[in-house]
Amino acid sequence: MPGLKKIAVLTSGGDAPGMNAAVRAVTRGALARSWEVFAVRNGFAGLLGNEFAQLAARDVGGIIQAGGTVLGSARCPEFAEVGGRAAAMANLRARGIDALVVIGGNGSQAGSASLSREGFAVVGVPSTIDNDLYGNDVSIGCDTAINITLEAIDRLRTTASSHQRAFAVETMGRNCGYIALMAGIAGGAEVIALPEHELKPADVAARLSAARERGKTHALAVIAEGAKCGVHELMEYYGAHRRSIGFDLRVTRLGHVVRGGTPTAADRVLATRLGAAAVETLASGKHSVLVGMVKGEIVTTPLSEIDGRMRPADATLLELARVMAI
Ligand code: F6P
Repeated sequence: MPGLKKIAVLTSGGDAPGMNAAVRAVTRGALARSWEVFAVRNGFAGLLGNEFAQLAARDVGGIIQAGGTVLGSARCPEFAEVGGRAAAMANLRARGIDALVVIGGNGSQAGSASLSREGFAVVGVPSTIDNDLYGNDVSIGCDTAINITLEAIDRLRTTASSHQRAFAVETMGRNCGYIALMAGIAGGAEVIALPEHELKPADVAARLSAARERGKTHALAVIAEGAKCGVHELMEYYGAHRRSIGFDLRVTRLGHVVRGGTPTAADRVLATRLGAAAVETLASGKHSVLVGMVKGEIVTTPLSEIDGRMRPADATLLELARVMAI
């Protein structure tokens, strides 16, 4: 943007490993252009609450390896109201801030789209372990979340095998099964249940049971949190049909553990590239876009195209997982 001098940066929605690397990249990229940079605390709530702090290069030192977000994050229902956004914009303008970088997932980028529609310059950076943003192949945080899930699967496999049991592992993913799909394939799961692909508890149980009949000493089901066949439904079904299934079943729900990791190298590099690209985008005069990585290239997609859309996991890969589990 011509004449751009001051930007603000915030992290919003569910935290994701690599958010800090993105904050560092935005800050240092902007300082390298002699812009001023302000951190906003606690996401959009901090915009409303006027929680700003100016950042220098040393303020973002020693954070590239830290999970979570040093800026804090929050869900902010007031920001969905026109009045809330007007108050936020008034606070930004009162400080002379020209543009805002929003690091977050789908809900957060919906907030970015509203703000840009109402006249403030915003660039979004995709960050969510769920990896469900349109206009981007892999979002910041999901590689770490997959690896945490995979480590749990690998550990559970050893005890499952020792005791000749089946395990159902539930990982995060409310609307999108990307983590379950990738960790399930990498972990050699017998069955994977996703929100994108309907399975009944009887189908999951049949796959576990068939694995035993084929001579397996254990069987693993990886279940996304948002799958219709959840771990509760599976346990219930199992309770009624234990004898016909063969294996004993144990359930492990990973929950927020999946979000709490030290970012992998891939997430740190992705966050650094996308954070720097957000600054370059603003410098080139563009805003109201999401900066994403598509087929290995940095691309921008208008926030208006992203708003209200979701990128589902590729359920066609379930067939690959099925064949590999024979
Ligand atoms: O950030 C995405 C996500 O981790 C989803 O996978 C999960 O369903 C949700 O956030 C949990 O949200 P909260 O932390 O608000 O409970």
